[in-house]
Amino acid sequence: MSSFPASVRIVEVGARDGLQNQSSDVSTLHKVALIERLCDAGIKHVEAGAFVSPKWVPMMADSAEVMALIKRRDDVIYSTLTPNVKGMEAAIQANANEIAVFISATESFSQKNTNCSIAEALVRAEPVVALAKENGIRVRGYISCVLGCPWEGDDIDPSRIADLTALLLDMGCFEISLGDTIGRGTPGKVTRLINEISKQADVSQLAAHFHNTYGQALANIYAALASGVSVIDSSVAGLGGCPYAKGATGNVATEDVLYMLEGLGIETGINLDKLVDVACFVRDTLQLHIDSNASKALLNRR
Ligand code: HMG
Ligand code: MG
Repeated sequence: MSSFPASVRIVEVGARDGLQNQSSDVSTLHKVALIERLCDAGIKHVEAGAFVSPKWVPMMADSAEVMALIKRRDDVIYSTLTPNVKGMEAAIQANANEIAVFISATESFSQKNTNCSIAEALVRAEPVVALAKENGIRVRGYISCVLGCPWEGDDIDPSRIADLTALLLDMGCFEISLGDTIGRGTPGKVTRLINEISKQADVSQLAAHFHNTYGQALANIYAALASGVSVIDSSVAGLGGCPYAKGATGNVATEDVLYMLEGLGIETGINLDKLVDVACFVRDTLQLHIDSNASKALLNRR
């Protein structure tokens, strides 16, 4: 237990990764209310939107309005996804504190998600990172499909992820979020992946971004924590899915992560009870399903 971090930084991705896949409409004002409620519960890092093509992801088309309407707190980082310079310019306009570039570990997912090869996505990211640096905005890098791909299967070579991590760090990303995009990983694979990446990067520069399709996300996070990772991406009420993988579920629920971390004595600064209230807002106002065992159990006890 001694190798576990004393505290963990939660990156709440429900308003972006969670909402980008919803087929039912969520209004701009409801997105703003969701983000503000998350911050009221103690979330300090929130992915608030994505400056991507509205033809590709219609649900994120109002990200500029969302960013403009949020009542900002000085102690919260509001980040957005930016796949290209057009997106980066929008992020600057929107006063994003942080942006994220994203690439994939597999060529098939790269084509489906960003209409380009992995090499082209890296070339595209370079001017985005440069522009972010010029504007004093820090850059996160995402790698998708690190533990499985809808088209290329589950055996993704960890050394390929390690090489991509090193490339993104060299480019200027401060942190690399490892995406188990369709939730196919298991803890042993997580441990092997992080060991491999550790040969080229410091584990303090890694974040775990695990989806929960096979119910493995918490176990995978436990493995990541044991390997020294201390940044976890999660989504309130377990919102989300993947448009390219039938049946793939959302990110691990933030409430489930908090319940486990509290049990391990790991600090997050987030109030679990208030976060369950946000899950109720997701259910009652956004009319979306709560996919969190901790939320359901805690609601039963109220
Ligand atoms: P493209 O069609 O090849 O690009 O898409 P294009 O340059 O030819 O532009 C096509 C149209 O999009 C043009 O408009 C552009 O102006 C517009 P038109 O002239 O046809 O009217 N456009 C934009 N509009 C707004 N903002 C922009 C932008 N860029 C172009 N930034 C592109 C290439 C990358 C733009 C597209 O494929 C795209 O937007 N992809 C994003 C897909 C996406 O957001 N996926 C979800 C996020 S990644 C994820 O969820 C994984 C993650 O959670 C981690 C994990 O779980 O693994 C992060
Ligand atoms: Mg994701």
